[in-house]
Amino acid sequence: MDSIAAMTERLEDFEAASAGLTRMLMEYQFGIDELTTKISILQEEFAHLHESSPIEHVNARLKSPQSILAKVRRLGHTPSLETIREVCLDIAGVRVICSFVSDVYGVFDMIAGQSDVHVLRVKDYIATPKENGYRSLHALVELPVHLSDRVVPVVVELQLRTVAMDFWAALEHRIYYKYDEAVPDDLLSELYSAAVASAELDTRMESLHQRVHGNGAP
Ligand code: GTP
Ligand code: MG
Repeated sequence: MDSIAAMTERLEDFEAASAGLTRMLMEYQFGIDELTTKISILQEEFAHLHESSPIEHVNARLKSPQSILAKVRRLGHTPSLETIREVCLDIAGVRVICSFVSDVYGVFDMIAGQSDVHVLRVKDYIATPKENGYRSLHALVELPVHLSDRVVPVVVELQLRTVAMDFWAALEHRIYYKYDEAVPDDLLSELYSAAVASAELDTRMESLHQRVHGNGAP
């Protein structure tokens, strides 16, 4: 059996690791706060100037410690603050839902063009949808967070999609979980054709919008 001294030491190690993780998650939360503030500013400015915004709504989430540890282990790494930072690039997530496809790119350009935002990676699943039909624009952005004694760069996973893309992705996600990742083939092909229909709807809605408001109008 472990000695009290060994158990105390392990408990102290655990407390130190847990405090380190909590502090790290706080920085990611600040990254979310910085990015959502930038998006709110765009939203309010649009509402003020044009009485409408290309942004329908914004969701943000911080990955839970359990999900972070599970992902790091799944990828074959021993969890430490360094490996977590290195391999878990979606600890901070912000999702922006826009009305039209052109708004998705427009809003992304407005954020990416800001001098303190550094775009590390872009995955354009709108130009090239995933095999299952999934569409969205994904980017990893890094932005500075000013703490009391230093500035830390924080990586945030930014996803931008239309309302139609979001509707599809939410349903697909629910189905995927309901079938515990083994979705029957007929459902998969039905989902795929729904994704094609949703892309067509996006195109039609955009062209209707442009007929009424003209190119470039929000
Ligand atoms: P992860 O390590 O799982 O984050 O994958 P990745 O690094 O290859 O990133 P990717 O850009 O492919 O996807 C990241 C996120 O996009 C996921 O966590 C989901 O939120 C969303 N996503 C990607 N593919 C799908 C999909 O097929 N269906 C749904 N509903 N969401 C998806
Ligand atoms: Mg992810």
